[in-house]
Amino acid sequence: MASAQDLESLAIEIAREAGELALRRRSEGVAIAATKSSIADIVTEADREVEALIRARLSAARPEDAFLGEESGAEGGTSDITWVVDPIDGTVNYAYGIPAFAVSVAAVRGEPVPGRWEALAGAVFHPSTGELFRAALGEGAWLREHRLAVNDEPSAAGALLATGFGYDPATHSGDLARVARVMPLARDLRRIGAASLDLAYVAAGRFDGYFERGLAPWDYAAGALLITEAGGRFTRIEMDDMPSRALFVAAGPTLFEPLLTAALGS
Ligand code: IPD
Ligand code: CA
Repeated sequence: MASAQDLESLAIEIAREAGELALRRRSEGVAIAATKSSIADIVTEADREVEALIRARLSAARPEDAFLGEESGAEGGTSDITWVVDPIDGTVNYAYGIPAFAVSVAAVRGEPVPGRWEALAGAVFHPSTGELFRAALGEGAWLREHRLAVNDEPSAAGALLATGFGYDPATHSGDLARVARVMPLARDLRRIGAASLDLAYVAAGRFDGYFERGLAPWDYAAGALLITEAGGRFTRIEMDDMPSRALFVAAGPTLFEPLLTAALGS
């Protein structure tokens, strides 16, 4: 049986190759292939090509594992491992020529259902900067030779927070109300448009905390492991009003509860 570190090595290798392909395709010009759930939710030709590359590499290296990807869906396997993949997280940035996009590759064990799996390994590769954030269960989260640790030193000036908004315009007012509730904790707020990078940055102590509703499994499978391996807390809470749009909160141990309380509201 492969160790979490073997799975991590494979995730790293594939995320790098995939990110380099995404970068190359971007320099050649980006074509929007389709609009998905709403006008803001797009897919480029590169999203599909990069996911196909990742899928091919995984099925050659680990034919027994299952797959769950943003663009090509799910395929069962015979092992208890599923690879949860976002070929280009931050597709809107990618399409607009903004460098904040990443490849996210995670190996999870158990049912490939959000909230029920255990993440074993993950890699988030940011090809525009060459930074690759990686983690294996019980082995820490790393950027190059630096072991990552969440920031757990509250600042009198408040926390540097990150968030994102749903693509469906009907959800914007709820997202903005959440921002208003959380802002008293914040020194400032970032919305970089790639959830995997938001989570990697919390793990690296670059952001103090993150909150967002409605992430998909591939947006956070790798990033959540980065957070917990960096000593932070991560949660996914199903909400009664729209169970398909869970609330996600990540932060260092001290900020986590106040941030969760504010994000939840009364
Ligand atoms: C999106 C980004 C964005 C977040 C959305 C995600 P995509 O992923 O991570 O920051 O706010 O919730 O769906 O569509 O660019 O892969
Ligand atoms: Ca995504």
